[in-house]
Amino acid sequence: MKSIVVANWKMNPQTFRDAKKLLEGTKKAVESAKTISVIVAPPALYLRELKVLGGRKLSFAAQNAHAEAGGAHTGEIAMAQVKDAKVSHVLIGHAERRAMGESTEDAKRKLASALKEGLTPIFCVGETSRSAAGEHYTFVREQLSALRDVPQQKLASILIAYEPVWAIGAEKPMSPRDMHQMGIFIRKVLVEMHGEKAMKVKILYGGSVDATNAVQMVTEADVDGLLVGRVSTNVDTFAALLTALQEA
Ligand code: PGA
Repeated sequence: MKSIVVANWKMNPQTFRDAKKLLEGTKKAVESAKTISVIVAPPALYLRELKVLGGRKLSFAAQNAHAEAGGAHTGEIAMAQVKDAKVSHVLIGHAERRAMGESTEDAKRKLASALKEGLTPIFCVGETSRSAAGEHYTFVREQLSALRDVPQQKLASILIAYEPVWAIGAEKPMSPRDMHQMGIFIRKVLVEMHGEKAMKVKILYGGSVDATNAVQMVTEADVDGLLVGRVSTNVDTFAALLTALQEA
C-alpha cells in the first residue's frame, strides 16, 4: 500500500548514539517497505547529522521552526536553517506545541515562512475533546483558517496531520469511521477556502497508531498516511508497522 509515514521522535532518544542506532534500524525497515515514504522528525540538535546519515530513501522534518527569518529568538531555529540542513519538511502546530501556547496566528506565520523557504509543511490540527454537539468541528475549522492565505499553487505540497489531542499518547486511536468523517470535513473546509485545488492536499492521521491499527486506518479512513509518535522510537515496533502497511 502506498502511504506516507511521519516518524515523530519528539524529545527522544536521550543520546545521539541512540539516535544513530534508531536511524539505522529505521533505514533498514524502510528498505523493505518500498511503497511507503517515511519522513523522520528527530530533535533539532540531531537533524543535520542524521540527514547526512539518512541516505536517499528517507526524508526529514524539523519538529518546529520559528516564523521569523532570524534575530533575537533565543532557543529557536529558523526555517532557513532547516532548509540549509537539507531537510525538506517541517511540523507546524503540533498539539504539544499548541499546548505551550502556539496559536492559529503563529501557525499562519510559520506556514508562510516555511513555504517561502521551499519547505513542505506538515500542518497539525486536532481538537482537545469531543462533544455530542460537534464543537470539535468548529475547533478544527478555526485551526484550518491558518491556511487561508496559502497561495493556491502551493496547496499540493502541504500535508495536513489531523491528530485529535485525546488520542495522542493514548491506548488506542480514533475509530477509522470517525477519521473518515473528519477527513471529509477537512477537505470541505479547504475546498470552501481554496476551491478544487484543495483536493490535492494530503491528509494524515496521528494518535496512537501502531502495527495493529495502521492498515485499518489507512484503508477505512481513506487517509494518505500516518503520523506516528511512540511506535516510531522503537525499531521493532516501527518496523512492524511498516511491514503491516507494506503488505496490506
Ligand atoms: P503517539 O503520538 O503516536 O505516541 O500517540 C503521536 C503524535 O503526537 O505525533
